[in-house]
Amino acid sequence: MADQNLDKHQSDRRQLMQAGLCMGALACAAPMVGAQPLKLSKFTPSKLVDAQGRPIKASAIKPDEPLVFTYPFEATPVFLVALQQAPKPVPIKAGSQGEYTSFEGVGPGKNLVAYSAICSHRMMYPTAQISFINVRAGTGKEPSQVIHCCGDNSRYDPTKGASVISGPAPAPLAMVALEWLQADDSLQAVGVLGADMFKPFFEKYAFKLELELGRRAKKLCGATTKVLPSSQYSKQLQSCSA
Ligand code: FES
Repeated sequence: MADQNLDKHQSDRRQLMQAGLCMGALACAAPMVGAQPLKLSKFTPSKLVDAQGRPIKASAIKPDEPLVFTYPFEATPVFLVALQQAPKPVPIKAGSQGEYTSFEGVGPGKNLVAYSAICSHRMMYPTAQISFINVRAGTGKEPSQVIHCCGDNSRYDPTKGASVISGPAPAPLAMVALEWLQADDSLQAVGVLGADMFKPFFEKYAFKLELELGRRAKKLCGATTKVLPSSQYSKQLQSCSA
């Protein structure tokens, strides 16, 4: 069943790219001329909840400690980042997978964004034991926050669709589409756009994920997904210099 979910995701993506369909407002961002427009892959919405299962409040998320949740699979981590300012949509090239326009932020300040935490280079990702990739302070002309993978020092700009600032990463981190439900100030994840790396991720870490999560490894998230500070999601946060 789990393999079917992943296969279906890849199949849906191919069909969408071939058909050029638009699946919703988030997927309808204007494509760039001459480029293959990459569309949003929709998944069952998962409400973001805290460790006690209560919906987190978007207005309470501040740009201090980065947050991590998993989506769309229970094994695929995502960074939830509160930016200092609302980001502007920018054109993004996702390697050979296509091109798209990054999402606006969501929440009362339109400053909340979410990105896959699987590095597009060699797929380092936050595990329960250790994380080599995290949101860190920017330096020089960088934005105040960057996403830095210590593996080979790739740095991504969360204010510009996680485009690559420096390092060997071949593509930006995939964006996770969030919806802000204004009535109760809650958030839910609804889809993924970009070079998501899911297929090679599950191939590369198949044995490790099987050991850690068993059958849950490729299971899609349910109606809720737990959000944790990155320092709780991983026991050790590896520091690395820029
Ligand atoms: S694995 Fe992230 S930069 Fe190489």
